[in-house]
Amino acid sequence: MNDLLTTKPAGPMIAPSILAADFAHLADDAAASLEAGADLLHVDIMDGHFVPNLSMGPALCGSLHKALPEAYLDVHLMVSDPGAYFKPFAEAGADLLSFHIEVCDSEQHARDLCGVIEDLGVKTGIVINPPTDVERVLPVVDAFDLVLVMSVNPGFGGQAFIPDVLEKGRRIKPLLQDHQRLEIDGGIGPETAHLAIDAGFDVLVAGSAIYGKPRDQWKEIVRILRG
Ligand code: DX5
Ligand code: ZN
Repeated sequence: MNDLLTTKPAGPMIAPSILAADFAHLADDAAASLEAGADLLHVDIMDGHFVPNLSMGPALCGSLHKALPEAYLDVHLMVSDPGAYFKPFAEAGADLLSFHIEVCDSEQHARDLCGVIEDLGVKTGIVINPPTDVERVLPVVDAFDLVLVMSVNPGFGGQAFIPDVLEKGRRIKPLLQDHQRLEIDGGIGPETAHLAIDAGFDVLVAGSAIYGKPRDQWKEIVRILRG
């Protein structure tokens, strides 16, 4: 299968975070961002426990998939018990499901959860938060299709980029094979995207930098984010 994220891209891919979109016009905003040149959609799921906020659930993901069946849905689970949500989101059309290393009590636990996602026929991602030591994720990166480095503390869009996390990207990148992607999420915009690209990231999540601007600017913003 020719999967968008497991085919080495010619340049960095742009993943608008729909958390910053207008939820009352979500499909329109999502479609317009893809028409503006973005590659896939980043879908932030928050449980009010792992992070101090709520966002959306499988029903919304399913509606988005129904409205835009061709759109690649990169679902980021910021939840304490991700295993409870893999199946609902797989059924709702998620193409990739990522969960946090911080909720895993061992390497084996992370590998077991990865296997559950794979058995659902969905691509896999592992996420690491800014305060977490990169050593925690390095032993398991081989198992995943994507490694996501948070460049803000998760829970809210529109926060300031934390440059210290770029070093994590430089540590992880040499361990990845051509079919594996390195994604960064939080505070990515025209001023920070090039720092992420230079550090080896090849999927850039951007929420407020795209949806926070007028729609007629999105094409130019996506072009600038690609570096
Ligand atoms: C943060 C989310 C991010 C967020 C990014 O908890 O995981 O995906 O939507 O938003 P911006 O790009 O505005 O920092
Ligand atoms: Zn995210």
